[in-house]
Order: sequence, then structure tokens, then C-alpha cells
Amino acid sequence: MKRKVTKAVFPVAGLGTRFLPATKAVPKEIMTLVDRPLIQYAIDEARAAGIKEFIFVTSRGKNALEDYFDHAPDLESSLRKKGKTELLETLKSTNMDSGAIAYIRQHKALGLGHAVWCARRLIANEPFAVILPDDVIAAEKPCLQQMVEAYEETGGCMVAAMEVPPEKASSYGMLDVREDMGNMVSVNGMVEKPDPEDSPSNLAVIGRYILTPDVLRNLNRLKSGSGGEIQLTDAIADEISEERNVYGYRFRGQRFDCGSKAGFLQATVAFALGRDDLKGEFSEYLSHMVSQQNAAQ
Ligand code: UTP
Repeated sequence: MKRKVTKAVFPVAGLGTRFLPATKAVPKEIMTLVDRPLIQYAIDEARAAGIKEFIFVTSRGKNALEDYFDHAPDLESSLRKKGKTELLETLKSTNMDSGAIAYIRQHKALGLGHAVWCARRLIANEPFAVILPDDVIAAEKPCLQQMVEAYEETGGCMVAAMEVPPEKASSYGMLDVREDMGNMVSVNGMVEKPDPEDSPSNLAVIGRYILTPDVLRNLNRLKSGSGGEIQLTDAIADEISEERNVYGYRFRGQRFDCGSKAGFLQATVAFALGRDDLKGEFSEYLSHMVSQQNAAQ
């Protein structure tokens, strides 16, 4: 049965250790690319894809996230008094309709699969999207929207897929491809972080998923079975063993791994250069830095 995807889960309960000490006090998702936190990019992408209910799986120390999506009456009235309508408009994208946003606690960081499982009662019996906010994707048509459109044709489970060089396979879940249909592949299996020589393809799974409620039932089983991290990819792979379809979707766009320092810096440069108000001054500065570096070598 195919249904419209109107719910999205944002697992944001990880410890963000790669950004310590910053993440001791600031949730990774609140760190900014230019002037917008990572979570804002994720929310905008979800809204463009038609998502109406936003479910955050959080943990201790993530209160800044809840505040970010709340109204700020003092700030708003001060801006209003000063006639700063443009800034007021900017704040609007951070406000959520009443009841559109929910927060669930993951009490222990037991893995991405466990984080999604924590949201099971709010998801109930519907297909749902999962967005990892530290994967930021610059695209003409937002990545999740591309996937929702494809999903409306296929049903089943769908993961965003991206080609990676062989030496990077060990950082991703890699797809074992059954049939390549161009934009989309059907999948025989998924291997979590294989050695390059064992990787079944060069297609890596990144942080966008459309999943059926069957995946939650698989997570139920994994939860009672396993001791270590509960992997979302294992629960999706179980769908294949049940002979239900799983697809990889080759999205159009550029993905930045903002969970890593290098990826975050690359995204900062790319997004700054994409901004009319910054690109002149910033690209001049970058060329200057590069020529200074070259001269020093
Ligand atoms: P990561 O693997 O990037 O882990 O999680 P992390 O804790 O955020 O960061 P590092 O590796 O320590 O620097 C991928 C996504 O899954 C969420 C994270 O919040 C992130 O969005 N996650 C991970 C959870 O919500 N719960 C978990 O138990 C693990």
C-alpha cells in the first residue's frame, strides 16, 4: 500500500564527539552554515517535500533545539518596534505550527536504528522519512522531494545513494545492487562499512530515507536481539529478506558531510559562495588566501 509521506524523523541524539569541545554545550545541529543552523536546512528540505509532522529524537543537552523552533516574543517585538521587517521574516522560517513538532528522548545513544525506534509510537502505521541533519544537500530540487516523487511510483523503502571512491566504502553502508534503472537501483542487500575490496558496489547510503512501518517492526526484533549499536541499515536489509522492495535513489545534488570538520568547512565555503550578499567579498578573500598559501610553499 502506498501512502503520502507526511511525517519525518530527525535523529539528533548523537553525542557529536567529532566536534568536541564545541558539542559539549552546543548541539551539532545548531552549528551554523553561514547564518542558519544545520537543522534549518533539514527542516526546509522536509517542508519542500510536503512533510507536515516533524519528530525529533533528542537527548540531554539539546534544549537549544527546542528553543530554536519556539517563538521568541521579546526578540520579535523588539524587531517589530525597530521596523526590521526583513529580520522578522527570517525568523518566520524557524516557527512551527502548533502541534507540528514533537520531541522524543533517546535515553542512551544506542545507534541510529534505536533512535528511529524511539519514535515508533508517533510514526504509527505510516510510511515516514528520516533525515540526518548533518548530511546537508545542495540541490535545485531538494533531495527529499526528489525521493518522495520517486517513492510515489515505487512504494517500498528508499535510501538516498551516492557514488563514492572505493577507499571511502568503509565509511558508509554500501548497496548490493540487483538492477540498475538509472536514477534508481533495486537492492539485494546492504553492507555496513565494508573493506574496499569487499564492497558490493560504489553506491553509498547517505542520510535520507523513506521507510515503511515494517522497518519499525524489524527494529523491534533487532532491539530485543542485539547488544551493541542498533543499525538502521540492518532493519532495512531485513525488508529484503522478507522479499519486500528496497531501492537506492541517485539524487541530483551535492552532499556535504557536516558531521566531519572537513565537510563542514567545505559546506561553509560552498554556501557562502552561493550567497549574493557574500560571494564578492568572500571569493576575493579566498583567492587571496590561496595565492598567499601558494607563495609560501
Ligand atoms: P553519527 O554517526 O554522526 O554520530 O550519527 P554523532 O554522535 O552524531 O557524531 P560523532 O560521530 O560522535 O561525531 C548520525 C546521526 O544519527 C544520530 C545523530 O544525532 C546523527 O544525526 N544518532 C546517532 C542518534 O540520534 N542516536 C544515536 O544513538 C546515534
